[in-house]
Amino acid sequence: MNYGAFRVPTPVNEPVQGYAPGSKERASLERELQATAAREVEIPLVIGGRELRTKSQGRAVMPHAHGHVLATYHQAGPAEVAAAVEAAEAARPAWSALPWEERAAVFLRAAELLATTHRDRVNAATMLGQSKTCHQAEIDAACEMIDFWRFNVHFAERIYAEQPLSAPGTWNRLEHRPLDGFVLAITPFNFTSIGGNLPTAPAILGNTALWKPASTSILSNWELFQLLHQAGLPAGVINWIPGPGSAVGGVALASPRLGGVHFTGSTSTFNSIQGTVAHNLERYGQYPRLVGETGGKDFVFAHASCDLRALAVGLVRGAFEYQGQKCSAASRAYVPKSLWKKLQRELEAMLSEIRMGDVRDFSNFVGAVIDEASFKKQQAAIAAARKSKDARIVCGGACDAQVGWFVQPTVIEALDPRYATMCTELFGPVLTVHVYDDRRYAQALETAATTSSYALTGAIFADDRAAIAQATTALRYAAGNFYVNDKPTGAIVGQQPFGGSRLSGTNDKAGSILNLLRWVSPRTIKETFVPPRDWRYPFLG
Ligand code: SIN
Repeated sequence: MNYGAFRVPTPVNEPVQGYAPGSKERASLERELQATAAREVEIPLVIGGRELRTKSQGRAVMPHAHGHVLATYHQAGPAEVAAAVEAAEAARPAWSALPWEERAAVFLRAAELLATTHRDRVNAATMLGQSKTCHQAEIDAACEMIDFWRFNVHFAERIYAEQPLSAPGTWNRLEHRPLDGFVLAITPFNFTSIGGNLPTAPAILGNTALWKPASTSILSNWELFQLLHQAGLPAGVINWIPGPGSAVGGVALASPRLGGVHFTGSTSTFNSIQGTVAHNLERYGQYPRLVGETGGKDFVFAHASCDLRALAVGLVRGAFEYQGQKCSAASRAYVPKSLWKKLQRELEAMLSEIRMGDVRDFSNFVGAVIDEASFKKQQAAIAAARKSKDARIVCGGACDAQVGWFVQPTVIEALDPRYATMCTELFGPVLTVHVYDDRRYAQALETAATTSSYALTGAIFADDRAAIAQATTALRYAAGNFYVNDKPTGAIVGQQPFGGSRLSGTNDKAGSILNLLRWVSPRTIKETFVPPRDWRYPFLG
């Protein structure tokens, strides 16, 4: 019970700290990096607030120094997943009945802790565990996570305020109930903030969740999990169950209490979740909400009128920041013949200045790819391009896994616009460029629009307004996030709702009210103040 229509503080995006040499924030982060590297953490399961240790364990290492172990984590098996489902169900009545502003306060407090006392700790875990530079960690683990929590409670407030009209003599109300079952959150390695967002977006609206983090981002995700409890999240609202997908999915997706899945990861895993849920439909008490963001084969399209320098910067940042491991990263580009030679020189010049190495050295722009499997995938694609008659390596191409899984930012020129690396997602620092005839702009747009089954992000670089309009129309369904004269990465919560359709996912737009709407199941309540007492209508007379 409360006596007021409370309003959450108006959210503003968290400012990005610069970490310039000599700055206070840089010194403080450097201290935290040393401390994080010096300890080896043991990460248990946490189910209903109880820590559990199992016989099955994994190790988390630094991708840029893979001999260095950061953490040992315990993995859930079927019995622990079943216990987590029970714990989530047990926590549901109290959590969903808590006045909504009390729930909101937990996440506002978590945001504040992350912005202040916990910022370095979560950034350091992200840098070391996921090989992000300080800037990439800051925009993700700090700013985007803080933004998700502050904006999502604001979106929840707007959802609750959404009410129907009432005819005279009646009162219609919409009660935005949480789903009638728990949410399974399966989170990716590449964004700490997505890790934190997938279980908490449903929780803000009164749902309870199971959180299965990626093993390769376990340390930063564990920091967030602990922080949420320091901020007042009650035990059992989110249950922490790292473990193999088969064990977690096998039990959680078979539960009649499954209310929804909030997923970011590969298309094949999401397809398999969709298939399992379809297969299990008869078991469920409701149709589970399936919200997934999967892969991308994101493009940059250049028109002859574009600012060449801006294009080159967009390509370098869009393709190579965080080693090309953002779902949004540019991995194919279409460049008119008239610009290609000059662009090639710009790219070569920029890439020759870019340093790659351990992210603790702040002069490095590029770290290592996440694991050995990714390293081998990039290496194989580069080797195939070297041999192919349809492609040639323009810059980069070196791979070295001795100390860390390092793949040099690589540009491939593909003669065939449907060459393998123009179509296949590699999720690494490999950009493939196809050069088109300036006179065939419309045909080249058509090729870009139809080359990939993904449709996540894309960009057009042009100064000519008609060319921009033509590309915007031709590429309408090729990307859920479309950028004009900007790189296709770096969506900001509240500014660029994020997500794509086709094989890129359900396009439920993280960072916007549209995502939060998936985690409520509204109930309409109609009250008639003076009900009729005669069954006959006037027309019967
Ligand atoms: C992502 O979800 O992988 C990236 C978001 C962005 O860079 O826009």
